[in-house]
Amino acid sequence: MKLTGEERDWLEGGAGPALKRAMEIVVALGTIYGAPTLIPVESVQISGVSYRNIGDAGLRFLRQWADEGARVRVPTTLNPTAMDMVRWEAQGFSADFADKQRQVVDAFAQMGVGEGTPLPTCTPYLIGNRPAQGTHVAWAESSAVVFANSVLGARTNREGGPGAIAAALTGRTGAYGLHRAENRLATLCVEVRARLDTISDYSALGAIVGRRAGQAVPYFADLPLDAVGDPLVEEKLKALGAAMAATGAVGLFHVADVTPEARAAAMLAPAYERLVIDDVAPGYASLSDDVDRVDLVWIGCPHASLREIALVAEALRDRRVQIPLWVTCARPVRAIAVEQGLVSVIESAGGRVFSDACMGIAPLHDLGFSAVATPSAKGAFYLRNLAHVAARFAPLEACIAIAAGDR
Ligand code: F3S
Repeated sequence: MKLTGEERDWLEGGAGPALKRAMEIVVALGTIYGAPTLIPVESVQISGVSYRNIGDAGLRFLRQWADEGARVRVPTTLNPTAMDMVRWEAQGFSADFADKQRQVVDAFAQMGVGEGTPLPTCTPYLIGNRPAQGTHVAWAESSAVVFANSVLGARTNREGGPGAIAAALTGRTGAYGLHRAENRLATLCVEVRARLDTISDYSALGAIVGRRAGQAVPYFADLPLDAVGDPLVEEKLKALGAAMAATGAVGLFHVADVTPEARAAAMLAPAYERLVIDDVAPGYASLSDDVDRVDLVWIGCPHASLREIALVAEALRDRRVQIPLWVTCARPVRAIAVEQGLVSVIESAGGRVFSDACMGIAPLHDLGFSAVATPSAKGAFYLRNLAHVAARFAPLEACIAIAAGDR
């Protein structure tokens, strides 16, 4: 791999042990994937933040970076934690767990993540980390990666946890994969004849397509999306991408007449494989367990936008929830939702709006939950496979009805 003089100096330890180790990781990854050079990145998004997932070994690894004086070189944001960093007691976390989770976030803060005050979220693009079309970034959270590539037209691979930290410390990543124009062309054409009404219908569609697509780049030829007239278009694309990234390994998709690179991607038309979707009901069924009782309703995977919080508030107006209903979102999004009176509508109905947290990576059994309903395919996928609880994947209205005891 061809390196600049400065990059070679970092690799040889001229700027200290932390930067040396970070360069070794970036160069090793680039070499494995055939990158001819490194490229500068404008921002980084780091995953692997839940103490439940990384444990004491992960915490030691982070502390070592921080204690060696590692500092991020580019704006860097952090994926969700297991708990709300302020209201963790209301979620039922123990003081011991909260202390460990806080130490994880403190190590990142010491490295300069979030300019020293990280705001954990999987939707950095909703709180200001919104790269322009064509810019190179190194993001790790799969739902954010697919959003950045597809909806914003930025360029990023799906970074792993240590790879993203190394990219943040060096401000570099290898010039391979989705950073290269030739790898951004569509390889699978999806024709959708199913009726799509709600955000969760797009999530169910993504659950089906992700399983078939694997690492392909899907091109949706005929989605009923209006990029200008539909106020929920971004939420639908967010849900579609997150589901495909979870059930498959999709890092980029295109939607005709909607996403920024769709026209260029469509030029490969004759080489497409073709997939026709007649019905999204199998997408819901594939992520729903047969459970008699749900003990938590979780909305906000990926973290809820202001418009999604407004939908929940609207559905809960004049109702009362009978079982816990938790909405998760980025802390700055919650602050605006408070100002707009949306949080008070949800919380007066008995629901809760938490910041920072992701229930898919939380110790749900320890919190007393064993069956969770969600309008997110990715949420249901993580609930089953990472949190190891039963899941019911259903449209938002159905989830609200479950919480209100209507069904
Ligand atoms: Fe975000 Fe957790 Fe879902 S990281 S995308 S809320 S599984």
